[in-house]
Amino acid sequence: MAVLRSSSRCSVSVIGAVLLVVLVLNGANLCNGGKTSTFVRKVEKTVDMPLNSDVFRVPPGYNAPQQVHITQGDHVGKGVIVSWVTQDEPGSSEVLYWSENSEHKKTAKGKVYRYEFYNYTSGYIHHCTLKKLTYNTKYYYEVGIGHTVQQFWFITPPEVGPDVPYTFGLIGDLGQSFDSNLTLTHYEHNPLKGQTVLFVGDLSYADQYPNHDNARWDSWGRFVERSVAYQPWIWTAGNHEIDFAPELGENEPFKPFTHRYLVPYRASNSTAPFWYSIKRASVYIIVLSSYSAYGKYTPQYKWLEQELPKVNRTETPWLIVMMHSPWYNSYNYHYMEGETMRVMFEPWFVKYKVDVVFSGHVHAYERSERVSNVAYNIINGLCAPIQDQSAPVYITIGDGGNLEGLATNMTEPQPKYSAYREASFGHAVFDIKNRTHAYYSWHRNQDGYAVEADSMWFFNRIWHPVDDSTSA
Ligand SMILES: [Fe+2]
Repeated sequence: MAVLRSSSRCSVSVIGAVLLVVLVLNGANLCNGGKTSTFVRKVEKTVDMPLNSDVFRVPPGYNAPQQVHITQGDHVGKGVIVSWVTQDEPGSSEVLYWSENSEHKKTAKGKVYRYEFYNYTSGYIHHCTLKKLTYNTKYYYEVGIGHTVQQFWFITPPEVGPDVPYTFGLIGDLGQSFDSNLTLTHYEHNPLKGQTVLFVGDLSYADQYPNHDNARWDSWGRFVERSVAYQPWIWTAGNHEIDFAPELGENEPFKPFTHRYLVPYRASNSTAPFWYSIKRASVYIIVLSSYSAYGKYTPQYKWLEQELPKVNRTETPWLIVMMHSPWYNSYNYHYMEGETMRVMFEPWFVKYKVDVVFSGHVHAYERSERVSNVAYNIINGLCAPIQDQSAPVYITIGDGGNLEGLATNMTEPQPKYSAYREASFGHAVFDIKNRTHAYYSWHRNQDGYAVEADSMWFFNRIWHPVDDSTSA
């Protein structure tokens, strides 16, 4: 399989003498255990797009639905939560929907919510769950009434099963800057066509504005509608979702996020919308919260302890974990913020052979080798990461392009566990082929849509657990 692996891998599959010479000459560079990209992004200020930008356009018509977004609405992919906002009055919370080949239109009734945040009052936020949909089917749906009806569509995933190909996009820390728009545009135009986005937290960055100006939650909802109204985004809570502002009298963490972005947490017996799981195609996805308690005896700890043994890799070969704060991060930003959760949960990730962990938070890109650091027991001194083929690959993809700018300062030398790192904005695609192979690629915004700046063939940890490392 050497030809399928990243070009930085040391295993030599040499066809001719010339190639051999080239490889020998470059041996030191290829085998140093990690690569820091030489790509230097143009230094420029990252600023948010002004509110009168076309990407934030309010749809015409009185009380027209806006900020339409969907996410998975049950545990197995037969449900979809449709959400939208009407600004002037409640209007209707119903969704009209029908499958592509059906004349029979169905109606689902939703509910409407509002919240206040300091001096801001939200529009009317509608959430409506469509249930018992048919797998692998295109559905059209409509929200709004009268002359403001708007039509969208989505495609349900294939039935959960071990050999179902499926393509996930990966976006984190997106925000609403000019760079955010580039990231979303690159994702939309990627020829690998993601079918669902795994979003690793930090959505709007509204909390960076005076009084956490929640109008920036609204503008973000309008900005991403062009993607998330047509394919589900799977949500992870980041620190910019906390919106804890006692100085404003706002003492309820996650208030805007939980009112606007519903997740199907009850379907996986979770007791809070910050940690939950779903099955989708051939994948079991576990979403964790870096900002909810995870110590022993806490609800999240107990839930994960009971959740991991439930994962049936014969049904869903791929096990993916999403969280906001990375555990393996060699940038000088958010130093060790993920460390306490790593100490609590990493032994389980190794035991249950998680394939890959996606995180955000650090505004750059990094991919690790398969490493673990679970041997330490207070007295043995074994506290360094080691290569471990039962461990996940850790990918930091907090490079969506928000207004805070890039994380450019890296620890030196590059740790051996760090396979590739680069301070650029971009997105990634995790393209599952079957139960044994998945192709992963990362795409920086400065390149053409089809260019892969980093890539790797993932070998499933249960069905094909051979070494898939990309550096020696
Ligand atoms: Fe963050």
